[in-house]
Amino acid sequence: MTEAMDAEFDTVAEWTAEVAIDLGPDYYVPAGCRGSGSPAALDWLIDRMDLSPGQSLLDSGAGVGGPADHAAQRRSVLPLLVEPEAGACRAAQRLFDHPVVQASGSRLPFPDESVDAAWCLGVLCTTPDKGALLSELRRVVRPAGAIGLLVFVATDVLPADTPDGNQFPTAGLLTDLAGTTGLDIETWQGATGLDPPSREWQDREQTVTERLEECYGDERAWQVAEDQSRRMGTLVSEGHVSGELLVLRRP
Ligand SMILES: C[S@@+](CC[C@H](N)C(=O)[O-])C[C@H]1O[C@@H](n2cnc3c(N)ncnc32)[C@H](O)[C@@H]1O
Repeated sequence: MTEAMDAEFDTVAEWTAEVAIDLGPDYYVPAGCRGSGSPAALDWLIDRMDLSPGQSLLDSGAGVGGPADHAAQRRSVLPLLVEPEAGACRAAQRLFDHPVVQASGSRLPFPDESVDAAWCLGVLCTTPDKGALLSELRRVVRPAGAIGLLVFVATDVLPADTPDGNQFPTAGLLTDLAGTTGLDIETWQGATGLDPPSREWQDREQTVTERLEECYGDERAWQVAEDQSRRMGTLVSEGHVSGELLVLRRP
């Protein structure tokens, strides 16, 4: 991880939990999803992956854990969180009542075919180990189980000012990766056209951001992380990268 990625995924993750706890439980999921997929993107995946109550759902690169808890609330699945950054693991443990394991998605500490389904949101674009990450998901998910992805893909030549450490695949590379990993792409949709979060969700997310700014605005880690998300926002708004939702399955 680079300094910028540590700031964003470790230090600020932990601060986010601190702020959310102070604000109260209604803020946990929006806080835990900051910088991730919108509720509509998560619901799209939950539906297309056909998740059902009681199924285990591995979240590889779970961050602060908001998306996994959203799935648990929507579909009564049993999330299992894997995340390499210690600060994010502690944040997820403080906010949500789901098991959290500190590990890399490219070396999952679980037996073959041990979970019903898995998802990996906003992670493939932050690691060079894309093939290993997908292979590990294929290995641990039961046959016919779904693997959901949110991936930010490069749509053209990227400007110099990209977020530090990000390595956006092209759509072609993503297709090739799925193929070489032995996974079928069952469905694929751009996230752009989906409904925006409710006003209530947006207000809560903004309150968390404002509180973080108030409490930690002078800290270098906050400034570095904010610069990362500003650069990411610019790439998306200028159309250089786009969020893509995919459901993969073992043939
Ligand atoms: C943009 S955040 C997304 C977090 C979470 N999935 C979400 O949607 O809110 C990317 C996450 O990927 C994690 N990550 C980076 N490299 C990883 C790897 N090799 N295996 C698993 N997670 C990784 C980071 O620590 C970070 O928490």
